[in-house]
Amino acid sequence: MKTIGVFTSGGDSPGMNACIRAVVRSAIFHKKKVIGIMRGYDGMIQNNMAELNSRSVSNIIHRGGTILKTARSKDFMTDRGMKTAYENVKKNKIDALVAIGGDGTFRGAVEFNTKYDIPFIGIPGTIDNDLMGTDFTLGFDTAVNTAIEAIDKIRDTAASHNRLFFIEVMGRDSGYLALWAGVAGGAEDILLPESKTNVADLVNKLEEGVKKGKESSIVVVAEGDEGGGAMKIAEEVKKKFNYDTRVSILGHIQRGGTPTACDRILGTKFGVFAVESLLKGETDKMTGIQKNQLVLVDLKKAIKHHSPLDKHLIRYSRFLSI
Ligand code: F6P
Repeated sequence: MKTIGVFTSGGDSPGMNACIRAVVRSAIFHKKKVIGIMRGYDGMIQNNMAELNSRSVSNIIHRGGTILKTARSKDFMTDRGMKTAYENVKKNKIDALVAIGGDGTFRGAVEFNTKYDIPFIGIPGTIDNDLMGTDFTLGFDTAVNTAIEAIDKIRDTAASHNRLFFIEVMGRDSGYLALWAGVAGGAEDILLPESKTNVADLVNKLEEGVKKGKESSIVVVAEGDEGGGAMKIAEEVKKKFNYDTRVSILGHIQRGGTPTACDRILGTKFGVFAVESLLKGETDKMTGIQKNQLVLVDLKKAIKHHSPLDKHLIRYSRFLSI
């Protein structure tokens, strides 16, 4: 193995740059050449790639986003797109790939590798923390911190005005971010895609809170909650609960920003571990962290199910908001 290709794909997440830096520098340390592929699988199809050296990744450890840019490639899901991507990988003499991304990225990789055999290691980079086999994905810690910073600010104004706030956080298919942001932000209730939302129960809870002297309340709603997102749920609640209510959708601010120390360290560990795993002959695996130990997880297993939510934290959230 002489040359490693690295790319980021799917939704970006804070810490990706620290991870790219670790991949590039550890590969160079082990005397390998590194090619950076721009905009994920799209860059592979368009042959948009160039060699990276140690200086290419200077001054990026603290930056959110990804210097390699990213995309959710539709072309890659076609036979033609995949074939062109493979031809370009070969043309650039890339012997192995490291991809930093989420489940969509790894689904693409699994299909790519059943058709064209190329050593591949995935690094879980998503704010959703929904990949099976790793306790944490890259970017989750920063996103939670961004979300609770916003919730804390909203709490100030909610308390001043005696208002009920519905705050929507990201997570199309997973409530991980909502659960953590809700518990860490002291929310009255947390609505998750993983559990059925019952508006009548929510209204009861809010009314109970008022009886107990609560003058303001915060409800965190995961974007993917099957009740239909913060706007819709707020409308439903307003029909039954007469309170001054506002909605705040945090949106993509959760995807950007300076990565926390935890995400920089996680990105660094994952990056070096991915390169050294490839050099040991590993392939079709995802790097993970379990009980603070680096592990390799079968890629197919990582994407089979969403990582389950912490049942204890769900239970605590129900009685800590009384
Ligand atoms: O997968 C990360 C994520 O931020 C999800 O939480 C969210 O549903 C989705 O990406 C949004 O994707 P896009 O930026 O393509 O709209």
